[in-house]
Amino acid sequence: MANEKLWGGRFKEATDRRVEEFTASIRYDMRLLRHDIEGSIAHAKMLGKQGIISNEESEKIVAGLISIREDIEKGDLRFSVSLEDVHMAVESALIERIGEAGGKLHTARSRNDQIALDIRLYLREEAATILQLLAKLNETLLKRAKEEIDTLLPGCTHLQKAQPVLLAHYLLAYREMFHRDSLRMRSCYEGINVMPLGSAALAGTSIPIDRGYVARLLNFPRISKNSMDAVADRDFAAEFLFDTALIMMHLSRFCEDLIIWSTDQFGFIEMADSFTTGSSIMPQKKNPDVAELIRGKSGRVYGNLVSLLTLMKGLPMTYNRDLQEDKEPVFDSVDTVRSCLEIFEGLIGSTVFKKDKMMQDAKTGYAAATDIAEYLVTQGVPFRKAHAIVGRLVGYCIEKDKNFDELSLEEVKMFYEGAKTEIFKYFDVERSVAGKTVSGGTARQAILERIKEIEKEREVS
Ligand code: ARG
Repeated sequence: MANEKLWGGRFKEATDRRVEEFTASIRYDMRLLRHDIEGSIAHAKMLGKQGIISNEESEKIVAGLISIREDIEKGDLRFSVSLEDVHMAVESALIERIGEAGGKLHTARSRNDQIALDIRLYLREEAATILQLLAKLNETLLKRAKEEIDTLLPGCTHLQKAQPVLLAHYLLAYREMFHRDSLRMRSCYEGINVMPLGSAALAGTSIPIDRGYVARLLNFPRISKNSMDAVADRDFAAEFLFDTALIMMHLSRFCEDLIIWSTDQFGFIEMADSFTTGSSIMPQKKNPDVAELIRGKSGRVYGNLVSLLTLMKGLPMTYNRDLQEDKEPVFDSVDTVRSCLEIFEGLIGSTVFKKDKMMQDAKTGYAAATDIAEYLVTQGVPFRKAHAIVGRLVGYCIEKDKNFDELSLEEVKMFYEGAKTEIFKYFDVERSVAGKTVSGGTARQAILERIKEIEKEREVS
């Protein structure tokens, strides 16, 4: 019995059903249909222009491909698993529709360079969408930072109160992270934006194609330089998965803060009802599930990166079927990151910051201790000594259950003989913040300068 597949010529037996099931990728690579057809249209036009097929054949192929796309989108056409993957499904449907001419589409092309093209077309689009989502999130963060330019927040290290900062500074810290994510994603986009078609199976082709023309039709600024590399390479996908993993890491850390801040114990924020959920048993509960899920989903996005890296590490040159396994991790990371960026923007945009509680907390816990030590330094005390003096002062306050501003000058003098009343100014947390005028610091002025810079950069880009 012969084998009916497009590649069935040399086979005497039909493919085992289980093998068909096992090797098929059509269940998930249908997502590439639009890109596959777009690539095929460009390829067919080029074949026609080069006289490799007739203009009439080329036009027939293009029209056939467009009608297949339309029918799939309308739901009028379904592909069976026996067709293996999206490439062969489209090609079979084309041959069915336009006959003989359809069989010419695959001239000077292999599924190996075809799939490389499809993923690049797909990821190029998704990278652009992610860039837009990052830009939107950063706009929201900037807006919220401007609103909170006078809100004090106890800044932490080790999750312990460390030094007072402005909430705007905190929000802009995340903006910096997401901005770096944008830069990385833009550079990743450049890596994706290379046209591999013409590499064929691995060696290129003897048919006189015009790769530059295909690249122009598909809006690629560059073509790949080595046919073996072009079909074996998934670096651009790994880079994309790394970039998305880092975005998730940033989102996850932000969510962790929000989860902690939303607790009754912290009480720094109130998440909007529309972005929280309730408990099925405890009527009083309002849970930060959105933030928790984003934190949770970062795991699978890391996993996808590790999947691809592991998938690639032992592959001999050039194409191997293992590469088919690149798709699900890539698709999953795309879906996850897109939805997380979108929902997080809504979450942070609608969260209410409880300024009074933040301010009250910033004032306790001796957050100005470093400022007092720095003041002592200006009085000629070596920093190490100043650190020890203030440390003892803090110990005394804890023992007496007092804040710095509840101390008398006599009490301060027990630890630093030279104390003058002006030292009390340095107990003030607002003064502490105002003093951090160093570039990149948390003083209002330094933040406003950074905001100006950001707005200028935004105008240029
Ligand atoms: N479905 C395959 C993939 O995703 C397409 C390429 C198959 N090439 C081959 N020589 N079997 O990688």
